Amino acid sequence: MPMWAGRFSKEIDERVNDFNSSVKFDARMYKQDIKGSIAHATMLSEQGIIDKSDSEKIIDGLNQILSDIETGKLEVDPTAEDIHMFVEAELTKRIGDAGKRLHTARSRNDQVALDIRMYLRDEIVEITQLVKELIRTVTGLAGKHLNTVMPGYTHLQRAQPITFAHHLMAYANMLLRDLDRLKDTYKRTDKLPLGSGALAGTTYPINRQRVCELLGFSEVCQNSLDGVSDRDFCIELASTVSILMMHLSRFSEEIIMWCSWEFKFVELDDAYATGSSIMPQKKNPDITELIRGKTARVYGDLNTLLSMMKNLPLAYNKDMQEDKEAIFDAVDTVKLCISTFIPMLSTMTVLSDNMRLAAAKGFINATDCADYLVKKGLPFRDAYKITGTLVKRCIELGVTLETLPMNEYKKLSDSFDENVYKAISLDTCVNERKSQGGPSPESVKAQIEYVIDNLERY
Ligand code: ARG
Repeated sequence: MPMWAGRFSKEIDERVNDFNSSVKFDARMYKQDIKGSIAHATMLSEQGIIDKSDSEKIIDGLNQILSDIETGKLEVDPTAEDIHMFVEAELTKRIGDAGKRLHTARSRNDQVALDIRMYLRDEIVEITQLVKELIRTVTGLAGKHLNTVMPGYTHLQRAQPITFAHHLMAYANMLLRDLDRLKDTYKRTDKLPLGSGALAGTTYPINRQRVCELLGFSEVCQNSLDGVSDRDFCIELASTVSILMMHLSRFSEEIIMWCSWEFKFVELDDAYATGSSIMPQKKNPDITELIRGKTARVYGDLNTLLSMMKNLPLAYNKDMQEDKEAIFDAVDTVKLCISTFIPMLSTMTVLSDNMRLAAAKGFINATDCADYLVKKGLPFRDAYKITGTLVKRCIELGVTLETLPMNEYKKLSDSFDENVYKAISLDTCVNERKSQGGPSPESVKAQIEYVIDNLERY
């Protein structure tokens, strides 16, 4: 019999019970539910709202339920309405009347809001740790490839020479911003809704500040209607992890391309790739493809939450029960993706020679050739035009700027001399790009230091 059965004259239809129940997906909040109830009972007795002896029984009973769930001695009843009802019913079964006093000055509406916030606080901490580990992996790899020249692209066309380290550090910076967003999301999740009651607070002399301290929240939600009906923090976290997934997905997309025979810039470790059931030659980058695919799923979770909330009148509505599957799926997915991505990345072989070979083709030093003429006193536009003509000539002759004979250079400008070959060599092109944020080894070293130093803040 449900706890609210008093008002009803019939038993609930079994299908409605199943339809209504959230226990299949909210049972994972059992620990938060129990800890929240312990803090609530502690405060109730301190305020003289319930007897100390009752609160002691409640706390004792709750602790036992917690340990019984954790050791597998107690299974959550799959026909219960939700985890909150289950824990309370189990408590009353064990300790009798005292258990019935726990729900004084509380509603499931502020209780569920509390549980989700507590659950997500822990998740944010876990995701933060994983992102930090990923950043360390990326910067570690970058440190090994400061001199690994590769083509930098725009429009997926070879554009200018960079290094693999420089490319990797772009991702490290994206991930650093993800950490910042996680920290910010935590700030707004870390507020206590308990004490809001069903929507209109309570007439009991509760002490919300005390519960806030007991549960380690930074402050209490300031309005009881808002306290029970706000799910911004879920939406914000879903949005933060969607952006994080977008970064992982772009990185994955590049790795997929780099694994192809057309690029062959990297080779995945056998433990992190899969074969084909029919084509014996295949080695597929499934992990990265799945990350790309799962990004869509996390975006879907964000959309579910946004759409679910957009026209709900204040305060609580049952629609909001749908928040949990969406946000849990989003955090589960992002954790799974990062923890698989890290070892895949750290075991990947980087084919530096192929990267350099690709950089040597495609005239990616043309800008440097024009700059060479500018340094000899020509206006940039003239230098640009001459270099364009040189590239055209190279294509006609089937050579590169590095192998184009000096007489061809001289035909277009007297300013060219033998030094041009050094000026447009790939190493010069990269090493001279010393501007802050650029690809020269010293610039990238500074970028690595910046990221590592900033990691301490999260
Ligand atoms: N299982 C519910 C949820 O997740 C708990 C809150 C129920 N409140 C209510 N008024 N029916 O949202």
